[in-house]
Amino acid sequence: MTAITWSHDVGQVAEEKQARRLTVAIDGPAGVGKSTVAKLLASRLGYLYLDTGALYRATAWAVIESGLDPADAKAVADLLSTLALQMQFHHGAATVFVNGKDVSGELRTPLVSSAASVISAMPAVRAWLLPIQREIGQGGAVVAEGRDMGTKVFPSADVKFFLEADPTVRAQRRHRELVAAGHSGALEETTTDLAGRDTRDRSRSIAPLVPAEDAQFIDTSTLSIAEVVDLMMAAVAAKL
Ligand code: DC
Repeated sequence: MTAITWSHDVGQVAEEKQARRLTVAIDGPAGVGKSTVAKLLASRLGYLYLDTGALYRATAWAVIESGLDPADAKAVADLLSTLALQMQFHHGAATVFVNGKDVSGELRTPLVSSAASVISAMPAVRAWLLPIQREIGQGGAVVAEGRDMGTKVFPSADVKFFLEADPTVRAQRRHRELVAAGHSGALEETTTDLAGRDTRDRSRSIAPLVPAEDAQFIDTSTLSIAEVVDLMMAAVAAKL
């Protein structure tokens, strides 16, 4: 039986900031700074930060752990019915469980990144994860980050952003992140990985990475994290 559950500590959403429980959608390619700014924006607003990539990564982790080929769509679809995915939110951080095991620390390896990109192109995986994302975001007061937040998961979000950045800058940022997390590997490898994921994410037939028509573009190539968050905060504040 499929069991997808989630829980969240509502205490983290400051009451005085709930006057309008906005849904903020942030989309963009890998390495553009989405997670960092989404987390900070959510914290400034007292909103829940929903990292939807973590759901795809947790599913990919389970595929690898089961010894399956991530490209085998039938095997991946069959596996879904045996998976219980749980996300717990507490003080701005999410813990992700797969069949009761906390996998949060194992989701950002290059192997999981690449498998997540492959399985996220599969209709069965996207259909499986869609309701859980919507359920988490249904009460508003959420900053949701991913590839199809503004187009597919939360098409009527109150504020939508699409972040872009020069591919070289994105690869350097992602490489620094990996090195800081203790992974080895050359910058060239990260650049190639990122280019591959970009192509897959943008060209897949289902929920490709495209900006929503009403999304506000932010090019983060030359902006600091604080500058990006300030720009976003100004746009959100106008709707509060
Ligand atoms: O944001 P991220 O790097 O953690 O995402 C991991 C992979 O999951 C990425 O290659 C694309 C996919 N993804 C997706 O297709 N849709 C989302 N809403 C979030 C992530």
